Amino acid sequence: MSELYPPTFADFYLLDMPTIADPYPMYQRLRTANAVGFDHDLGLLVAYGYAPVSAALRDARFSAARMPDGSQFPPELQALRSTFEFVSHQMLFRDPPDHTRLRGLVSKAFTPRMIETLRASITTLVDDLLAKATAQGEMDAIADFAYPLPTNVIMGMLGIPSTDREDFKRWSDDFAAFLGTTDEAATQRLMNSVGEVSDYLRHLIKGRTGNEEDLLSALLVAEEHGDMLHETELFANVVLLLAAGHETTTNLIGNGLYLLLTHPEQMARLRADATLMPLAVEEFLRYESPVQYTSRLATTEMELGGQPIAAGQEVVLSIAAANRDPAQFSDPERLDVGRRDNRHLAFAFGNHFCLGAPLARLEAQIAFTALLSRFPVLHLREAHPPYLRNAAFHGLQRLPIGMA
Ligand code: HEM
Repeated sequence: MSELYPPTFADFYLLDMPTIADPYPMYQRLRTANAVGFDHDLGLLVAYGYAPVSAALRDARFSAARMPDGSQFPPELQALRSTFEFVSHQMLFRDPPDHTRLRGLVSKAFTPRMIETLRASITTLVDDLLAKATAQGEMDAIADFAYPLPTNVIMGMLGIPSTDREDFKRWSDDFAAFLGTTDEAATQRLMNSVGEVSDYLRHLIKGRTGNEEDLLSALLVAEEHGDMLHETELFANVVLLLAAGHETTTNLIGNGLYLLLTHPEQMARLRADATLMPLAVEEFLRYESPVQYTSRLATTEMELGGQPIAAGQEVVLSIAAANRDPAQFSDPERLDVGRRDNRHLAFAFGNHFCLGAPLARLEAQIAFTALLSRFPVLHLREAHPPYLRNAAFHGLQRLPIGMA
């Protein structure tokens, strides 16, 4: 455990590799003991039950402004404060009125209707990626498919040239490591990345003619009306969109495919009835949630799941544990691609409900439909592919598969 930062959930057993691969027995144990429990190792309250996690996500007395401002950091870490400051401008970490303003600026691009207009281009991209793989008869379903798909889509939406993809992968990976691990080196790396990505965006913006119709240009107009968006907010939220567009959907597709390959009866069911696809994607989200937890700060003295909470106290909300709570889901440890009434919390709930949910759903549905219809045979080439060492983002490092 890092001794420099206050302990966070990520320092806990979650960074132990066997637990990362299968955290569910641990969640089950902890949730059975307490829907909300004080964790003495962490010094934090953690909500594991569906009822308290969903209640906290909806409750305006909980603040999302949980990024530390660094004023408590020891002198040798003061240099890292600017990174925390930068990240704190992302809408994910703001409360109203800032949150309302920032989300309002980008939300038009993410309505289900706007996202539906991307269907044809996403389908073409999926077909191109799979055509390459078909020629080889095998692929790493992460590097060759689940990663390039959402990355290309979000870069295209923002109007960032796909030739710069490698840089964005590095920046986005650094951001994910910052959120899901807590070592100082991850913060150092993100600090460098924040400098690089800001320089990159400044340069890119200079080259704009003003006639572009992408999301970055729409945000630039807002930046010109400086009362709506300032430069740091613009850059921080572009980084958020890029990182959210990179990590999570990749993990949804990778986790879902691994689930189908390890549950052949569910794969057969889905092949036999394509109308189950939307339900199957929701079930992948519930069963192997790409975002395992979030947290909130209590703004006032209150109670959650029978536990008293002091003003200013942070509460970790375990989305993944809530998504397997038997009080909400029947037979929650069973993967059921036809599960109905699946009100999972994988995209959270309330004010901060994932803005990219319609996009992630569309990408995943197109990806799985194409994979199953194109390849009558799909098999694993590595029985237990390794997971990413990240407690917040649950996904595979690689997924070698063969197909025919
Ligand atoms: C399977 C894929 C995805 C999952 C599981 C996911 C999950 C989440 C979760 C749990 C939150 C809320 C966190 C909290 O309340 O603390 C969130 C927020 C957000 N997500 Fe996603 N996400 C996914 C894909 C995407 C994509 C593709 C984008 C955009 C390109 C995106 C953009 C955002 C943004 C901007 C927010 C912040 C919303 C706000 O604060 O109002 N997400 N996401």
